[in-house]
Amino acid sequence: MKTNIALIGFMGAGKTAGGRLLAEKLGKKLVELDSLIELRAGKPIPDIFREDGEAAFRRLEIEVTREVAGNRNQVIACGGGVVLNQINIDRLKKGVVVYLTASPEVILQRVLNDSSVRPLLENGNKALNIRELLKFRQPLYERAADIMIDTSGLDIETVAEQIIAGLEEYEGSNR
Ligand code: S3P
Repeated sequence: MKTNIALIGFMGAGKTAGGRLLAEKLGKKLVELDSLIELRAGKPIPDIFREDGEAAFRRLEIEVTREVAGNRNQVIACGGGVVLNQINIDRLKKGVVVYLTASPEVILQRVLNDSSVRPLLENGNKALNIRELLKFRQPLYERAADIMIDTSGLDIETVAEQIIAGLEEYEGSNR
């Protein structure tokens, strides 16, 4: 039986906040891949990108995803780029993969209201960066997803409830 739930989706889709509440409601452990990567690197994500480059970040992401996917009974909040390496998805598929989507406008608002620095959005025009990255990644997210939830206009409570409803339906049809 699948006991892990992996939340994937673009930056600002609600993976961390939604994941925290979901984990609480389901009595599972919340694991944030980005936090584990920072722990392992001994520095924050923007420093990893600046000092070691994106490729080094992606290698750490693969390593940490492999380790976490081997454990059970967790809600795994993934970084937005986890889908860029198919090996991550193959490993996360040991659990149920939930894709949280949001419109580009909503994503822009959320990242502007959030104090975390996102290296991939920092150079140039944020709105344009979001649109271009989303265009490239959307098919990857969709292909990886078992369940899809549009979080635009939803509060975190409703996001968590919709994920739980989606999980029940998924389990019913995969029994
Ligand atoms: C990234 C998303 C970030 C973080 C890193 C790269 C991406 O995580 O992993 O900055 O490639 O989309 P969030 O999706 O939690 O912001």
